[in-house]
Amino acid sequence: MKTATQLVHSGRDPAAHHGMVNVPAYHGSTVLFDTLEAFEASQASPFTGVHYGRFGTPTHFAFEQAVARLENAYGAVSTCSGLAAIAAAVMSVAEAGAHLLVADSVYGPTRMLCNGLLKRLGVETEYFDPTISADQLQSLFRANTRALFVEPPGSLTFEISDVPAMAAVAHAHDAVVIADNTWATPLYYNAHGHGVDISVHAATKYMVGHSDALLGVVNCIDETTHERVKMAAVALGYCAGPDDVYLGLRGLRTLGQRLPVHQSNGLALANWLADQPQVARVIHPARLDHPQHALWQRDFTGATGLFSFVLQPVERSQLAAMLDGLAYYGMGASWGGYESLIIPANPARSRSATEWSTTGPMLRVHAGLEDIDDLIDDMAAGLARLD
Ligand SMILES: Cc1ncc(COP(=O)(O)O)c(C=O)c1O
Repeated sequence: MKTATQLVHSGRDPAAHHGMVNVPAYHGSTVLFDTLEAFEASQASPFTGVHYGRFGTPTHFAFEQAVARLENAYGAVSTCSGLAAIAAAVMSVAEAGAHLLVADSVYGPTRMLCNGLLKRLGVETEYFDPTISADQLQSLFRANTRALFVEPPGSLTFEISDVPAMAAVAHAHDAVVIADNTWATPLYYNAHGHGVDISVHAATKYMVGHSDALLGVVNCIDETTHERVKMAAVALGYCAGPDDVYLGLRGLRTLGQRLPVHQSNGLALANWLADQPQVARVIHPARLDHPQHALWQRDFTGATGLFSFVLQPVERSQLAAMLDGLAYYGMGASWGGYESLIIPANPARSRSATEWSTTGPMLRVHAGLEDIDDLIDDMAAGLARLD
């Protein structure tokens, strides 16, 4: 089955749901059993079948099955947010005394988890430059290194790591490779094919696609990994709400149609911005001037709609005039919905292994599904307000 067909058909079972095209949103905590034997059998294998709402319902299983299939994973675990998916992945390998290697470009709250909760539990995190070579990375591994965490590309700075080479080093040290694959989705980056053991997605973004649900999902390369991640998610009490997981599955159906538009709008906007005098630098992996463009070309099959650009130095009031007057770009956290967004980004604040400096303010854009001419006109008017 080709990807487009999978997106339409995976996880569906109309015969099991009175012919309904979509698996319904099962709302439920208690599940009733007719006999003592059936009840006890359900308790004996907690990760199989439907026996308590928190362990999953047919809606969860349908979403997980569809996402796992898209990324050729053994299985998936859904969670109540993207950050919960990250936490479940990391908690599946973390233990007191362990050492984690985490790319300096990771999503801010991933650092919060590592620097706060995990540190308190005796897990040490060491951040590394996401662009270093596998040879350089090698020297950072210790006997207690349990995981390598990468985000190819980081969702503010878009640096791309050489994941296959890094994964080979990690595996030689018996460390698990975790990737936050939210930017590319399984459609544009085959994480497991590049050496990743645990591929984390904030399904809140492109999978849901409409900015109206919080959802996470973790794809696992094999049964053991799947069991460990599921165990961590269950122990932490993570479970996606039935309506959110339903929206995630519904979003998947059109993912293959939406992503190419995000890609073409994003790239057209990035290319247009690169020619504007008010812009100092555009950071988009699919552009030839991106420092790791060759890696993007080698490992990815597409780009989505999220990228950054840096303005020439301006006053805060000028920046406010530019952003406040935009008609089509909303200012708000998150991305991956059908609508365009823009926010100021300050990665320098959270980095610790590397420095990030820009001449002027940095802005992160999510190119939505609007007409590209309208997006460019609106941005042009915004840049004109800087003058
Ligand atoms: C790269 C990345 N990973 C994970 C997340 C977390 O997703 P959620 O907001 O669903 O917790 C985000 C959210 O912005 C993100 O940008």
